[in-house]
Amino acid sequence: MQKFVVTGGRRLRGEIKLQGSKNSALPIMAAAILPEGQCLIKNCPELTDVYSAARILNSLGCKCSFSDNQVFTDSALISSTEISEELMREMRSSIVFMGAVLGRMKECTVSIPGGCELGPRPIDMHISSLRKMGIDIRETGGRIICRTRSERPKGAKINLNFPSVGATENIILCAVLADGETVINNAAREPEISDLCGFLRKCGADIKGDGESRIIINGKEKLHGCEYSVMPDRIAAATYLSMTAAAGGEIILKNACVAETEPFLSVIEQTGCTVSTGERKIYLRSGARLHAVRDRIRTMPYPGFPTDAQAVLMSALSVADGTSVFEENIFDCRYRHTQALAKMGADIQVMGKIAVIKGVNRLHGANAEATDLRGGASMIAAALAAEGTSEISRIYHIDRGYEKIEEAVRLLGGDIKRVQ
Ligand code: EPZ
Repeated sequence: MQKFVVTGGRRLRGEIKLQGSKNSALPIMAAAILPEGQCLIKNCPELTDVYSAARILNSLGCKCSFSDNQVFTDSALISSTEISEELMREMRSSIVFMGAVLGRMKECTVSIPGGCELGPRPIDMHISSLRKMGIDIRETGGRIICRTRSERPKGAKINLNFPSVGATENIILCAVLADGETVINNAAREPEISDLCGFLRKCGADIKGDGESRIIINGKEKLHGCEYSVMPDRIAAATYLSMTAAAGGEIILKNACVAETEPFLSVIEQTGCTVSTGERKIYLRSGARLHAVRDRIRTMPYPGFPTDAQAVLMSALSVADGTSVFEENIFDCRYRHTQALAKMGADIQVMGKIAVIKGVNRLHGANAEATDLRGGASMIAAALAAEGTSEISRIYHIDRGYEKIEEAVRLLGGDIKRVQ
């Protein structure tokens, strides 16, 4: 199995171009099922999760090919409505294919999705919302069998009891070809939802209010293909900025989505790093020692502090002066990386949803196993800041979400190798 060997102690310095967003690209690829024709999706990151999405599309008869960060799809001859358990297990995002296949084909069979182990990840809101849209759903032998009661799914008023990203996406994907109006109250406001809606609007969908808590969709009879460019990855931005804050140095991120990264930038700025932004650019300089962040960092749905940036920022705060406190409010089990950081010398106490980080003078190299995607990235950030060499294994977790992370880190002057 491959691993990363990282030798810390070098300051990072340079410019990198950010990858396209994983969490946009995946639902957009699912959405490519909806138009009866061809789509060209640009700025798509080359990741194992994106390859999984391509395998799902091909298994449904929606032709999908990938080259040079562009995905080409042709859904004219879509032939199947069933996604195998094996493909469903490859990633969490496989669940958004449910809404898309239902929208286009009026029926589908899926199973519980896989993905990072961050605690229980139920799909009850996805199921109850689709039921409201006139879909019969029954579970048998681990399979979830969905059939539209009438000719098309029906528009409905749906009040989510939590602004779930995946449930909001599934409802939108089913609603764009449904009969009538769908209103989603308490919808997720994440920028990746607006990116999905941007793609669907280019295909002819009628969607209003994305980016706000109430989204209104008027179903169309048909959609057409389009060309679309995926937004930059705000979590990859947070990751490279946290690495630079932790190791010290200076970074310019090009092709960045500045406004969408603001909830993270406003917190990392409190560590004493200099942060400035320009047209699609983010600059960060980490000079002297970092300071702890005084206020509790609460992960919240957008525009709150993103749960996906909690682990990587924690690595930087492990070497800050003073004590910082995180409160993880989205997932029950998102501190699994803390044991690896502790092995590297970090002082972290976890109590339920709270993690208390007392900054230490320095970290030291250690061997660690990536526990999940962002947790694995946090171990690279800590290893870059540490004295000595660290080996990080189970890096398939990291490859699910970061495009050639070792090349980006090396471009910044970091010492990282991928070895067998
Ligand atoms: C998306 O996951 C992202 N994944 C996650 O990123 C991200 O952490 C998360 O949104 C929150 O921002 C993708 O976009 C592919 P949710 P998703 O539904 O859609 C509970 C990464 O590292 N819930 O908003 O699964 C759920 O258990 C990944 O890139 C229910 O209870 O997130 C969780 O506690 C990890 N019932 C909370 O809501 C449901 O039916 C938020 O989940 C659905 C969700």
